[in-house]
Amino acid sequence: MNFRIQYDRQDEFLPICEDFNEMAVRLKESVTKIQQQEQNRKELLAGISHDIRSPLTSIQAYVEGLMDGVARTPKVQRSYLATIKTKVEDLDRMVSQLFLFSKMELGDYPENSIRLRLDEKIEAAVLEAKEEYKEHGLQLITDLTPVTVTADPIQLERVISNVMGNSLKYKEQEKGLLRISLIKNGATCTLTFDDDGPGVPEEALPHLFEAFYRSDPARQNPQKGSGLGLAIVKSIITHAGGSIQAKRSEFGGLKIEICLSCEEGSESDGKNTDRGR
Ligand SMILES: Nc1ncnc2c1ncn2[C@@H]1O[C@H](COP(=O)(O)OP(=O)(O)OP(=O)(O)O)[C@@H](O)[C@H]1O
Ligand SMILES: [Mg+2]
Repeated sequence: MNFRIQYDRQDEFLPICEDFNEMAVRLKESVTKIQQQEQNRKELLAGISHDIRSPLTSIQAYVEGLMDGVARTPKVQRSYLATIKTKVEDLDRMVSQLFLFSKMELGDYPENSIRLRLDEKIEAAVLEAKEEYKEHGLQLITDLTPVTVTADPIQLERVISNVMGNSLKYKEQEKGLLRISLIKNGATCTLTFDDDGPGVPEEALPHLFEAFYRSDPARQNPQKGSGLGLAIVKSIITHAGGSIQAKRSEFGGLKIEICLSCEEGSESDGKNTDRGR
């Protein structure tokens, strides 16, 4: 695959030699791609095994503790059962995320796109979550331009709640801020989530959308998440013809920037076909 024909004469053989060389380049590219996919698959399997094993090990230890009579008092027994319940919930969440992700990877994609006002969709999601987030110390602020897009409202909700949920989950200070802004640039719009949390190291930014990626390399805190949220978000956005990037936020934390196609022109007369869902 590294062999190239050196042919300097300008005759009828030159295009054939050029075609051969081009074919060799493409073949090498596709082999590299397959090797990369194989490597990703191995990492994915290692990730799944690790993440499923940790809660299973705890469940096993607590069940044995109950059976062996280590937990003597009803109070201790209840606390063992509560831990088992939490671990089972972790497993359940992980398996549901994994199921959704693999369905999307296989192209089994729920598709019910409609014309909707993205700004109103975000406003509604924020309104619903605002109080609960505030109680947990994260203030949500919005700066939204009216924008009409064609998208699946359920998938959009998933995108918004996943990204918002991360800002809440990874906040380290007692109080934090998340700004959600939406601007329009002709036939495209940019939806940005900016938080003032810990962010991630620069080298982690391009990897956040990979399945099972966590910026915490020791994969401590598996209870915080399975590392599938942003991979699902990316899959939804790509499927809708958009793009997504992670950057450093000017607020000091993480910025997630999503670009989508939208309808050109003013939204002043736009009707939200998603109203009331
Ligand atoms: N707002 C954020 N601030 C700091 N780190 C973040 C933020 N959002 C994501 N991350 C980092 O990116 C990783 C991947 O995020 P992702 O949402 O894909 O997975 P998760 O939150 O770990 O699990 P899941 O979303 O499946 O419950 C996280 O584990 C975390 O390390
Ligand atoms: Mg997440």
